[in-house]
Amino acid sequence: MKVTKAVIPAAGLGTRVLPATKAMPKEMLPIVDKPAIQYIVEEAVRSGITDILIITNRGKGLIEDHFDRAPELEAKLTGSQKEAMFHSVVDISKLANIYFVRQKETKGLGHAVNCARSFVGNEPFAVLYGDDVIIGEDPACGQLIRAYEEFGQGVLGVKEVTPEAIVKYSSLKVDPIRDNLYQCTDMVEKPSPDKILSLFSILGRCVLPPEIFDILDRTQPGAGGEIQLTDAMCQLARTTGMVAVDFTGKRYDMGNKLGIMQAQVELALKHPEIGGDFKAYLKEIASSL
Ligand code: UTP
Repeated sequence: MKVTKAVIPAAGLGTRVLPATKAMPKEMLPIVDKPAIQYIVEEAVRSGITDILIITNRGKGLIEDHFDRAPELEAKLTGSQKEAMFHSVVDISKLANIYFVRQKETKGLGHAVNCARSFVGNEPFAVLYGDDVIIGEDPACGQLIRAYEEFGQGVLGVKEVTPEAIVKYSSLKVDPIRDNLYQCTDMVEKPSPDKILSLFSILGRCVLPPEIFDILDRTQPGAGGEIQLTDAMCQLARTTGMVAVDFTGKRYDMGNKLGIMQAQVELALKHPEIGGDFKAYLKEIASSL
């Protein structure tokens, strides 16, 4: 079955980026001139997704406004010289069919995904974590969708992380299939050092079958007292199996300060308008460090 629906959970509290995220959702933090969540929606659209549900909560109205029309602003930009600017504003509202639902209590990523049940229905769907921006020629979400279409199992976007980082993420038990594809048969969220299964961790993307919702209904709070998506996916991995894709593309974690600055610097260097000037500036700064 073709994967055309995606869910973007964006209802976290973003405590690691306070005070920036006190009133502003972390998903709206800009990388040069676009908010993080726009990069994520664009990746989904390039992957063949037509319908996107963004999970929000109180105080995330800015996200809804960003994907809406802005008639007053558009009126100001309708003049020949501002054509490009006009399109940069209007085109955002035409990217896909974008829907919103609120997660009424912040009970974890698994709980957030479970809010998508009626939107998803009985179809496979992609999940793109709202604070993980992945930049690459071949969109990461599309790489996972291709694996879903080939194997008919849930798919995880994975990368190897350092031993220091793995204890803060998930850790997967994997066996090679071919190239960058692995069979995943077990996983653990935030493992203690003696429970690490491998340095492969789920980073920001997965494609799930609709059976995940019944599993989520039964999933008890896990690490951090939250309903963990990893715990529900672990059930799938142990029963039907899941496929892990070591995706190509650079991933930026917009949920922590260092990740935000790495995204800013690297994408500013590639930016068509300011890239050259920024590089010269960075070289000057670097020479004095
Ligand atoms: P994180 O755990 O990174 O988000 O969740 P957080 O809770 O905002 O982070 P900190 O620890 O307080 O800084 C990964 C993704 O899941 C969403 C977040 O918005 C983020 O995109 N999420 C998390 C929800 O939608 N609901 C939740 O209850 C938790």
